[in-house]
Amino acid sequence: MSQPCTHLLLFGATGDLSKRMLLPSLFGLDADGLLPDCLRIIGTARSALDDAAFKALAAEALDSFVDADRRTPALVAKFLARLSYVPLDASAPEGFAALAQAVGDPAHLAIFLSTAPSLFGPTIAGLASAGLAGPGVRLALEKPLGSDLASSRVINDAVAAAYPEDRTFRIDHYLGKETVQNLLALRFGNTLFEPLWNAAGIDHVQITIAETVGLESRAGYYDGMGALRDMVQNHMLQLLALVAMEPPARFDPTSVRDEKVKVLRSLRPIDRASVEAHSVRGQYTAGAVGGAPVKGYAEELGGPSETETFVALKAHVDNWRWQGVPFYLRTGKRLPERMSEIIVQFKPVPHSMFGDATLTANKLIISLQPDENIGLTIMAKTPGLDREGLKLRSVPLDIGLANAFADVRRRIAYERLLLDLIEGQQTLFVRRDEVEAQWSWIDGIRAGWAATGMTPKPYGAGNWGPSAAIALTERDGVTWHD
Ligand code: BG6
Repeated sequence: MSQPCTHLLLFGATGDLSKRMLLPSLFGLDADGLLPDCLRIIGTARSALDDAAFKALAAEALDSFVDADRRTPALVAKFLARLSYVPLDASAPEGFAALAQAVGDPAHLAIFLSTAPSLFGPTIAGLASAGLAGPGVRLALEKPLGSDLASSRVINDAVAAAYPEDRTFRIDHYLGKETVQNLLALRFGNTLFEPLWNAAGIDHVQITIAETVGLESRAGYYDGMGALRDMVQNHMLQLLALVAMEPPARFDPTSVRDEKVKVLRSLRPIDRASVEAHSVRGQYTAGAVGGAPVKGYAEELGGPSETETFVALKAHVDNWRWQGVPFYLRTGKRLPERMSEIIVQFKPVPHSMFGDATLTANKLIISLQPDENIGLTIMAKTPGLDREGLKLRSVPLDIGLANAFADVRRRIAYERLLLDLIEGQQTLFVRRDEVEAQWSWIDGIRAGWAATGMTPKPYGAGNWGPSAAIALTERDGVTWHD
């Protein structure tokens, strides 16, 4: 294992992600004694704060986002003592010398960039010129890493000019989620599934990430991106890659990421010819979510827009294992519930000996949120004397992970990712070739939309997207698992 770093430098330290996720995660790790004693956390952002004001901001963030029973005054004081702050305008190179001075000369330094992508280039150049890119320095980058293949290459080139790939940590926070890693345990820690995990055993796969929230004060960013680039390009394609990849030889960065990138490169392009049959764009209009009325997207935004807040796709992985198996993906805002899940629909038995009894093919349901659960539906006999033949019913075999591991605290994704960054473990971070394969597939879909003039179809907030999303699967005789 690599040496633990001694300092962590957080860009965007006063921002929303920092307050909601990064500071609470670091606190959680500290409270559990998982941070090296020597670790200092240096926050930086544009705001002209001093150390005391930054500590006050962090204390407030902990108050809001950490459970009260974990927040003892002694633990909070210990955590705050690690913090300091350096104001910096990342677009002005002269400020980086002061930053380097504040960082000092630690044996190891981890830098976390949670800033606007337009600042990535100047920030990296500033860090390098101030001597903060040497062999002991790791760089983590938070999305969005570009808005298409070309812009992501510009960012990747700027990063590569200062930090080699083995010190670059691209974050996809879905990889930090417990159930996402559990997918690997399920597939490769059991003999049960892998022999069937292919076109002979599986009919189709569904991946859904449904959200109830709308624009959430992110209009500037979201309207420029839309659901395809905000969610599919990263989180959904990473989930797809983990479901579809060949068994890696080891749980190490090269083995796992080599297998994922092969899947991403095998995605069948969705282009001008297929885009209308294989994709659906939607945008929410006024409606109700959770019983409360909500505005439509255009109203929230303050004007009309052609950005999609919902997307559904029928994807194919063109390799031997997955020939003919559709992967249906859908994600959207203002849907009826917050729910992320992967459904693996197995094929029916080849012959039923049970006469008229209906058999339902097995289904594996991997729920990522709000609850972490793995369920398998199996056919069982309905109790009775069966004078008119056996009656069967599909019943769930559930592993409620919250119950199975009731004694273990559920951690938020960033705890895992920050600790991996601090310790230099890259397996759960995305490699450059993966990101570029993801963008290249997404760019093809967008080019198809542009060429065919496909604009988002309206759906009322609180519905599962436009009706075309239902037709997308029903045409194949498949129903979305709601
Ligand atoms: C982010 C997207 O990457 O993921 C957001 O930018 C989205 O639009 C969020 O809300 C969803 O993450 P989670 O962990 O809440 O499912």
